[in-house]
Amino acid sequence: LSTPILAGQRVLITAGGTREPLDPVRFLGNRSSGRQGVALAQAARDAGAEVTLLATHLEVAPPAGVRLVHASSALELRAAVFAEAPGHDVLIMNAAVADFRPANIENSKIKKRDEHSAPVITLVRNPDILAEIVQARAQDATLPSLIVGFAAETGDEQGSVLDYGRSKLARKGCEMLVVNEVGAQLTFGQDTNSIQVLFASQAPSVQATGSKLEVARVVIEQIASAIIGHPH
Ligand code: C5P
Repeated sequence: LSTPILAGQRVLITAGGTREPLDPVRFLGNRSSGRQGVALAQAARDAGAEVTLLATHLEVAPPAGVRLVHASSALELRAAVFAEAPGHDVLIMNAAVADFRPANIENSKIKKRDEHSAPVITLVRNPDILAEIVQARAQDATLPSLIVGFAAETGDEQGSVLDYGRSKLARKGCEMLVVNEVGAQLTFGQDTNSIQVLFASQAPSVQATGSKLEVARVVIEQIASAIIGHPH
């Protein structure tokens, strides 16, 4: 038997979608099911890694044999990522993080004040957790040496899915970016996925299509090759 490809590696994976609270009973959410993140955790576990799954909201059960940590909102996820990341070799930021959150969280349920009026909800920007942890790593050697981002992209007249992926990879500063094409019927909540793995090293991109578990195995193989290429 050969050694599993991620033996001895500690891998932190964020999964699912954040929920941004409005009041004690309401939130703004997104359609991420957590399936791809759970598949990544399975694939990393099966590759011999010690896996921490940092779950936001999942529609599927987390796999056995991984350490489970929970966070709900983007701000909670940021705190949890910074608390958990030290001591991990790899961070995979798969969670769908809300770009905006309500500026205020009401202490009690927002009420209908009269027959017709409706409240106006003001949003503020959330921090970009991925960009922040890449920046923080420049001063902190305990943070993961391999950071992988995800991007759900749609192509348009201005550029292809790959063009947008390349500029996002440069903007975020991580080592790898897994790009998937999204649309009403594609990716979110589906069992299959079609991805491109892009590398900051300028290595040629790698394409994969298949079930979320098959795609996750390709991502894990690429992570293992990157670790072998740049041992730490
Ligand atoms: O910019 P965009 O949201 O497309 O980037 C997606 C990547 O960035 C994912 O890896 C996601 O987990 C991460 N992200 C983040 N914090 C945000 C938004 C996205 O870490 N506020």
